[in-house]
Formats: sequence, C-alpha cells, structure tokens
Amino acid sequence: MAILVTGGLGYIGSHTVVELLNNGFEVVIVDDLSNSEKFILKNIEEVAGKKPVFYPFDLKRKELLTQVFEAHQIDGCINFAASKAVGESQIKPVDYYENNLFSLINILQEFKSREISNFIFSSSCTVYGQADQMPINENTPLKMPESVYGKTKQMGEEILIDFAKAYSRKISLLRYFNPIGAHPSAKLGELPIGIPNNLVPYVMQTAAGIREKLSIWGNDYPTEDGTAVRDYIYVVDLAKAHVAALKRLMNEQSDEAMIDIYNLGTGKGSSVLEVVKAFETANNVEVPYQICDRREGDITVAYANVDKAEKELGWKSETSLEEALRTVWEWQKYLDSRTV
Ligand code: NAD
Ligand code: WQD
Repeated sequence: MAILVTGGLGYIGSHTVVELLNNGFEVVIVDDLSNSEKFILKNIEEVAGKKPVFYPFDLKRKELLTQVFEAHQIDGCINFAASKAVGESQIKPVDYYENNLFSLINILQEFKSREISNFIFSSSCTVYGQADQMPINENTPLKMPESVYGKTKQMGEEILIDFAKAYSRKISLLRYFNPIGAHPSAKLGELPIGIPNNLVPYVMQTAAGIREKLSIWGNDYPTEDGTAVRDYIYVVDLAKAHVAALKRLMNEQSDEAMIDIYNLGTGKGSSVLEVVKAFETANNVEVPYQICDRREGDITVAYANVDKAEKELGWKSETSLEEALRTVWEWQKYLDSRTV
C-alpha cells in the first residue's frame, strides 16, 4: 500500500510526507524539483527515520508517470505539485494552466484506468475570493478567482468533482488558508527561492537582513488596525489534516462517489501588523517595515470556519501564531548554517 505524493519535496508536501511516514504509510514522491532541492529528501529521511521512494520528473511526462504506477501498488494520491506564484501566473497563464491542470489530468488518467480511489487535492481559500461574510465555511459561495493561479485551483476542484461522480471515486478537496511555519526540527520549511511573495517568508528574510524592509501592502483596509486580515495555519498542523483526510477516505467502504471538502485554517484572523509584532515578540528580533499602497488583487479579510474539519476529521489546528513564527526563525538559522 503506497501513497503517491506529488510535490512531496515542496513546502507543505515535505511536512506531509513526514506525517504519512510516521503513520505507517509507504510514500512514493514525484517531484521535478522545479521549486525544491534534493537536500529536502535527505532531511525528510532524517526527521522521519524512514525513506520515501523518490522519482525526480515532471508530471506532465505521462509515460514516466505510467511507469511509477506499474512499479508500485498505489492506493491513493496527495497532489501538491503545482506552480503557485499568483503574480507569475498572470504573466505566464498558459504555463500555469499546463502545469497545474495537465499534471492533475495525467494522474487522474492512471487512477481511472487502474480503478484507484482516494485522491486529495491541494486547493486554496482563494476559491472564495472576498467572501461577503466571515468566517468562511465550505458552503460560502465560490467566486471565480482573479488570478490564473486561483482559476487553476477552482478548475482542479471541478475536474475532480466530475471525476469522482463519473467513476464513483473518493476525493477530498482541502482548501488551505495561509500556511506558515517550519518543522520543529528546523530541517524542513519553505525554501527561499527568489524574492518571496508571501508575508511570512518576507518577514523572515527582513529580520535576517536579507531584505531591507518589509513593505506592508496597505493600512487603509476596513479592519481594526487598517492592515489586511488572514488565517495563518501552522504547516505541521496542516500536514496532519492530510493524514486525517486520507484515513477518512480509505475507511469508507461504500462504492459510491465520495466528495469531501474542508477548510483548513485556525478559525482566527490576524492582521499583517499582528503577524509582524508576533514575529518580533516570538523571536526577539526587529522587523523594519514601511507602509505602501495596497497590492493589486488583495482581499481585505479571510478566515475559516473549521467546524466541519473538526467534526468529520477529528482535526484542529493546535499551534499558536507565535509558536509557528518561532519555527520560522529557527528555519532561517538552519538555512544560514547551510550557507557558511
Ligand atoms: P511548493 O512549490 O513548495 O511545492 C510544490 C512542489 O511541487 C515543488 O516541490 C515543485 O518542485 C513540485 N512541482 C511543481 N510542478 C511539478 C510538476 N509538474 N511535476 C512534478 N513536480 C512538480 O508549494 P507548497 O506551498 O508546498 O504548495 C503545495 C500545494 O498547495 C500547491 O498545489 C499549492 O497551490 C497549494 N496551496 C499552497 C498554499 C500556500 O500558501 N503555500 C496555499 C493554498 C494552496
Ligand atoms: C498575506 C497578507 C498581503 C507580503 C496568497 C495567495 C493565495 C494563497 C496564499 C495559495 C496580505 C500582506 C504580503 C508582503 C504584505 N496561496 N503582505 N507584504 O495574499 O493571503 O494569499 O497566498 O493558494 O492564493 O493569493 O497571502 O502571504 O501573500 O499575504 O503586506 O511583502 O500580507 O497584502 O494582506 P495571501 P500573502
């Protein structure tokens, strides 16, 4: 029994692979290293004390994917592999549609022809856009995202729902809010490839002196301190939700289609300024910042209602914002130690 984890050397994927190995699953990773590095594989082994199988190739290469399915008895897939930079997706729309959707379809073709079920998809709160009401639950109406990246997530969801219905398969669509943090071992985390777009990696690099100042995109939002509010979920908590979602799919004996959809967040919103302050307090460091104009396409506020995940998966986030931000700083120190 092996679980295919695509993008398993990526940020969320690597943490999830550790949790899967800790829970006794065999793991087969396919990752083309387009947004990761080989040392992450070694670190996964060190942290988990077990070795996943690893194939370094692009999922768009269907013939190679078929060989993986021929070599292993795959019982499920967690599909993390995707390109995820919102800004870049606007400049390279065709590449984003190709990478995010062709990869998905290639895996589904294998699932379809081999009668495999149990598919977990990395979706995003971006599918809700700026919701009219907070907190956001799974029945909150979806809005077609503005970004190409977001559209690939919404389209991915639609493709999977059609797949589950047509072939009576079991799928889980996990809508992450804002994942942050690193593994407590400080051996896994979000790799600083290029200039970070996301808040916490930018804060981390500013505190480390790699970036001069954090730009806070707007302090004129209708929120308590004027900065935008998000739901920051600790990556190890998020990884554990994948194991819970997978077990739920695997335990379902019925031959009917099963379509699970969960919001994965903490249920609590934090403003940009709150995150900066929490990082400073947690790590006793300073994060210089300047207030700038709003970033195009940003929403004001998003935080999750997580009751459904708690009830059906028996899962909830356990780690505070400050604790999560402490692991970010330990990860930065680890990265520094690698470069000296
Ligand atoms: P990541 O970039 O760290 O991980 C993705 C991994 O997939 C990388 O290691 C990359 O090398 C690999 N990959 C990409 N395209 C591939 C391909 N065609 N073939 C093989 N490997 C490929 O990203 P992440 O932050 O870990 O995100 C994982 C998933 O979660 C993505 O689908 C992303 O869209 C989704 N998501 C992320 C966030 C977030 O803020 N990080 C929020 C919501 C949803
Ligand atoms: C958080 C807040 C920024 C950087 C994006 C994607 C979304 C999802 C998660 C995958 C916002 C502010 C940020 C900076 C800042 N990804 N900020 N200065 O925008 O909620 O969502 O990542 O699915 O699809 O759109 O996350 O971390 O970029 O920003 O002030 O240098 O921090 O304006 O309010 P976001 P983020």
